[in-house]
Amino acid sequence: MKIAVNTGGGDAPGLNAVIRGIVLAAHRKGWEVYGIKYGYRGLIDTKHIVRLTPETVWDITNIGGTILGSAIRGNPFNYIEKKSDGTSIETDISDFVVSNFKALGFDALIAIGGDGSLTIANKFFKKGIPVIGIPKTIDNDISSTDVTFGFDTAVNTATEAIDKIQTTAKSHDRVMVVEVMGRYVGWISLYSGISGSADVILIPEIPFDLEKVCRKIRQLALIGQDFAIVVVAEGARPVGGDVTFIEKSPGELRLGGIGKKVADEIEERTGKETRVIVLGHLQRGGAPTTFDRLLSLRFGTAAVRFAEAGKFGTMVSLGSTEIHSVPIEDAIGQMKSVPEDSDIILTARSLGISFGD
Ligand code: F6P
Repeated sequence: MKIAVNTGGGDAPGLNAVIRGIVLAAHRKGWEVYGIKYGYRGLIDTKHIVRLTPETVWDITNIGGTILGSAIRGNPFNYIEKKSDGTSIETDISDFVVSNFKALGFDALIAIGGDGSLTIANKFFKKGIPVIGIPKTIDNDISSTDVTFGFDTAVNTATEAIDKIQTTAKSHDRVMVVEVMGRYVGWISLYSGISGSADVILIPEIPFDLEKVCRKIRQLALIGQDFAIVVVAEGARPVGGDVTFIEKSPGELRLGGIGKKVADEIEERTGKETRVIVLGHLQRGGAPTTFDRLLSLRFGTAAVRFAEAGKFGTMVSLGSTEIHSVPIEDAIGQMKSVPEDSDIILTARSLGISFGD
């Protein structure tokens, strides 16, 4: 077998460990592995294809990022081509990608990515490319798997940051608002907020009322706690309100800014000195935790076993401690939100953490 591997979307700690798992497992079967760099760019311009041998991946388990580079743009089904006059047009170059894949003699593609990349991979599966998907994202928002790799590391980074912020909050009797990533789901904020002893956690799944957030902060003061930690997911929104975006360039919106809005309101309504910190891409970087390394190596090696078994069109998933294969179709297009009646929400409520509801 000759397999191709690519990494798409935002990077996540553990990507390199997955690549190592794939390469070593494939090598033991006598297969060849090639890295398609920058998402699908290597299948559009084949100079971006690299041979991956055990020597090239030997020491990368603990390294963040991806040795293959990633791409957020460049979807071959809606490819933006720049014309010489400066304008751009959107075209579907997926047939070109499929013919390159076949001409290069690949037998399978292992696509490592989040919802967007897996959706593209599934479209290629339907066009005849034998695909196995591997779910990646720090946000943990992919359905049909208990967890994605990258999430545990991001949570650890956020928890460590909240721990550090606690000491400043206490020293200065301040309210510290910490904005964390997670797109439209609250997994990172919940896990890190609970572990970091936050007083308030605002998540997309539970729209908040700022008056209730302020009431919680005033109540804390009454029992002698003059500081507060408020963890806000970037996708959190007030009751009846919208998600906050930052406009980077005309038409290009990025999630972010809710932390500052919440901090300004808290300061104004409670009179308490308030600061905001946005953890941002710190959460995507650094060495993967032991949990993420193991999960990544398990996902990578399982993908090779699934390729050998011909389980194409499926995604590697973790379910109740075991690795399974599930149809990619079932995993994509439906965000895995935090259920309001889940144990993790109940845990937070039992600890007295406010969701501002
Ligand atoms: O999906 C991962 C993620 O880090 C989100 O949590 C965040 O909203 C987004 O990517 C940031 O994307 P970018 O790297 O393009 O700013």
